[in-house]
Amino acid sequence: MSDSVKFLLDEEHLPTHWYNINADLPEPMAPVLHPGTKEPVTPDDLAPIFPRAVIEQEMSTEREVEIPQPVRDVYRQWRPAPMFRARRLEQALQTPARIYYKYEGVSPAGSHKPNTAIAQAFYNKAEGVKRITTETGAGQWGSSLALAGTFFGLEIVVFMVRVSFDGKPYRRAYMETLGAQCIASPSDQTESGRAILAGHPDSTGSLGIAISEAVEMAVQRDDTRYALGSVLNHVLLHQTVTGLESLEQLAMADDYPDLVIGCTGGGSNFAGLAFPFLREKWQRGLDTEFIAVEPSACPTLTKGAFAYDYGDTAHLTPLVKMYTLGSGFVPPGFHAGGLRYHGMAPQISHLAKQGHLAPRSYNQLECFAAGIQFAKAEGILPAPEANHAVKATIHEAGKCRESGESKAILFNLCGHGHFDMQAYIDYNAGKLEDLVYDDAEVAMALAGLPSGC
Ligand SMILES: Cc1ncc(COP(=O)(O)O)c(C=O)c1O
Repeated sequence: MSDSVKFLLDEEHLPTHWYNINADLPEPMAPVLHPGTKEPVTPDDLAPIFPRAVIEQEMSTEREVEIPQPVRDVYRQWRPAPMFRARRLEQALQTPARIYYKYEGVSPAGSHKPNTAIAQAFYNKAEGVKRITTETGAGQWGSSLALAGTFFGLEIVVFMVRVSFDGKPYRRAYMETLGAQCIASPSDQTESGRAILAGHPDSTGSLGIAISEAVEMAVQRDDTRYALGSVLNHVLLHQTVTGLESLEQLAMADDYPDLVIGCTGGGSNFAGLAFPFLREKWQRGLDTEFIAVEPSACPTLTKGAFAYDYGDTAHLTPLVKMYTLGSGFVPPGFHAGGLRYHGMAPQISHLAKQGHLAPRSYNQLECFAAGIQFAKAEGILPAPEANHAVKATIHEAGKCRESGESKAILFNLCGHGHFDMQAYIDYNAGKLEDLVYDDAEVAMALAGLPSGC
């Protein structure tokens, strides 16, 4: 086994294809339904929202999907991303576990999100789109699309969830500096936003509301499309570049993970890392375990219902079968803004339902404590979302210390926290608390699940 600390691939090793798990799913997934007819959607139904190439990928069952050369050319700015062996953390934890992390914080925007932002901007540009609208929670996705907009010469409009808009002025400044327009959501610019503000003038917003605003604005103009930063099949597909690189890097380390861990908001970074390893597991009969970690304050996989639901609050999106807390649910304003989503990617939901991955949840204080422990050992300050994966990793490494087992653990350090310093300031000052979701609100939101599908 290698005694290196970092495992670097040169540009020639950049994957040429993404991996599409739809080709290998042991059981087929439930179809996506039209919100009006409740019949399976057709590519034409989605055409006002997404470019054709993206719609094809959404429905594709082709195992390998080629990464277009212009997308690879941009990826090369920071990819292949490094994988590290967390030797100093292992030492600090006195664990026999071997801990590896794929580090996506080296992208210009600071997370895994550009892996799909660049691809989506490319496909939109190729089809003559001039403007893309989107939502952002933590600001990482909006920043990534703003970045992709500068690379491909596209106008970008970002609806930023109010709680993050107020709490993260530097993320907003980053997007605006790159030329994007950033609007606090709910806003008075759309009918969906105005409807929310009428009932809740102080709404902290949610990803579900911001998605409604962005979709509503996109369908109003022919030269505009919408881009989603997670949840859908094509987004998860684009993220598989991380897992494919990690497979090669672990081969360099002469090792293989027993556990693969990622945080889950909409599911894309977890999927990106895990799906290529799931394929290996199915092909080679391995017993790798997969842990999807979410916040206890927005426990979609661990406490949600597996049902057809809307992806947004105003019910403009198609219906997908997923774990959901109800599209009307507004999670409390905890600091991992990217994990405040009522639903979960249909592919992740399907795999969880079939028992292919183990979901778990943690509170924000224990996640921040874990992130700081990681930063003190490894020197990288994780994004609050990534702290959830760090927490699960430290927990599993602790179990190895107790049992004496030397398991190999791989997790995705999906972003750095350099724009999240207010959260760390609040944590250090003892001002952060664990937020609990409102059971009654979830029950109400779930009571509103669509019927007849
Ligand atoms: C750093 C980071 N990690 C994770 C997420 C959650 O999204 P996903 O589950 O799609 O990876 C976000 C979302 O904004 C994020 O910014």
